[in-house]
Amino acid sequence: MKNCSLLIIGIVAAILSSCGTKPARYVTDEPFRSVYHHSPAAFWMNDPNGMFYDDAAHLWHLYYQHNPFGTTWGPMHWAHATSSDLIHWEQHPIVLAPDSIGTIFSGSVVIDRYNTAGFGENAVVAIFTQSEICGQHQSIAYSLDGGMTFVKYDGNPVLKGDIADFRDPKVTWDEQAGKWIMTLACQQEIRFYSSANLKEWSYESSFGAGIGAHGGVWECPELIRLKCENEKIGKCENEKYVLLVSINPGGPFGGSATQYFVGEWDGHRFTCTDAPYETKWLDYGKDNYSTFTWHNAPDGRVVSLGWMSNWQYAEVLPTVAFRSQNTIARELSLYKDDADVYRVRVVPSPEFMALKGEKTRTLADAAIVELTLSGTKSSVVTLSNDKGEKVTMTLDVHRRTFSMDRTASGDCSFSTDFAAHTTTPLFVKQDEYRVILFIDHCSIEAFDANGYWAMTNLVFPSEPYNHVEVEGGEANIYAIRNL
Ligand code: FRU
Repeated sequence: MKNCSLLIIGIVAAILSSCGTKPARYVTDEPFRSVYHHSPAAFWMNDPNGMFYDDAAHLWHLYYQHNPFGTTWGPMHWAHATSSDLIHWEQHPIVLAPDSIGTIFSGSVVIDRYNTAGFGENAVVAIFTQSEICGQHQSIAYSLDGGMTFVKYDGNPVLKGDIADFRDPKVTWDEQAGKWIMTLACQQEIRFYSSANLKEWSYESSFGAGIGAHGGVWECPELIRLKCENEKIGKCENEKYVLLVSINPGGPFGGSATQYFVGEWDGHRFTCTDAPYETKWLDYGKDNYSTFTWHNAPDGRVVSLGWMSNWQYAEVLPTVAFRSQNTIARELSLYKDDADVYRVRVVPSPEFMALKGEKTRTLADAAIVELTLSGTKSSVVTLSNDKGEKVTMTLDVHRRTFSMDRTASGDCSFSTDFAAHTTTPLFVKQDEYRVILFIDHCSIEAFDANGYWAMTNLVFPSEPYNHVEVEGGEANIYAIRNL
């Protein structure tokens, strides 16, 4: 009955949000509703889309894949939320709905400073996939009110598909070449296209044959330039191009995951120049997919967001009025590991580090835990509740791994793929290891404090974990400051 009334409140919230009357109110009293992660007011969400930062309004825009008719995947729309701090989100009306060309799949947004498309100076232009039974095509729409509403271009589609999987355009401005570059997922490859005006696109090159993981279809690619920040001065070149590619299935622990390649971009072609024999993963948990970064983020920051779920079980997770949430925002850069291999450094965005409140003795459903673990003997960290449900994390100094076991974490009954044990290599040897855990109702995001690896896993305990036990180190628990 309680579930039923939550669903009804959710439906009302969603109708209000799609009618454009008032921003939808969040249904907050579900046990697994996060407090500092973005989640849809109601119904289904998958990939984050079209994120951009409006510097005049100091506003982070987030669009996302949304089915406004139910809590499973369905006819895709772009829903919209904005935030001034990446933590509190205001829900706005849906901006893009299906039409005769197709439903609205993932894509990106750019600010057209030089009016290359002719929609107006600083028009906000969305580039997205339209999917229909016979294929997938790229379309565009423009906004003259700062991304609040969009008008679809009447010449759509701007790039017609010639194969079945032809989607998820992420567009960036290539300053040197003076043109737009589109990164597009095409079956198990990435294609690059270029354009002077966002309306006419020319094929440039393809990447992906014989390299990386190929256990499933490639999706949601993005080409980004990252700075290398290394303690070991002189070891790093200044900047490299990184190509993010989500893959489903074929992730290291089953289902969805995001791999990446480090290399060079010459204006036409991407070449993986660093450790091409190895598949590198952006996250070593099961629940971080389709990561994209914000266009036009302030102060040169590279701020990313991922969908905190996995296609293996996303549609059957035990939430009621809504399904799925996003990860916390994370800043990306590069480092070189002990073997001189470039890796993406992932750290929680400062907005989330600032959530650290009073030090407390017991764990709650939302908290930040800082672990200091020995560099010479292995440690075991256990989060548990009075029902005997637990998550066990092990830092193994001999194997040089950190792992998280959620097989006894709570409800795992909804999918045989959920009970899992995930592991990351410790890419850099340290005298002691500092690990930060972000806990929020149904998620644990673990970060090496220097950003050498990240691990994101969902958990569904029947009551919040309230104890932390550490063998071989210590834990400091912090409440989340008033939100
Ligand atoms: C990735 C994805 C995209 C697609 C969207 C559809 O999760 O499959 O490739 O555009 O979801 O909702």
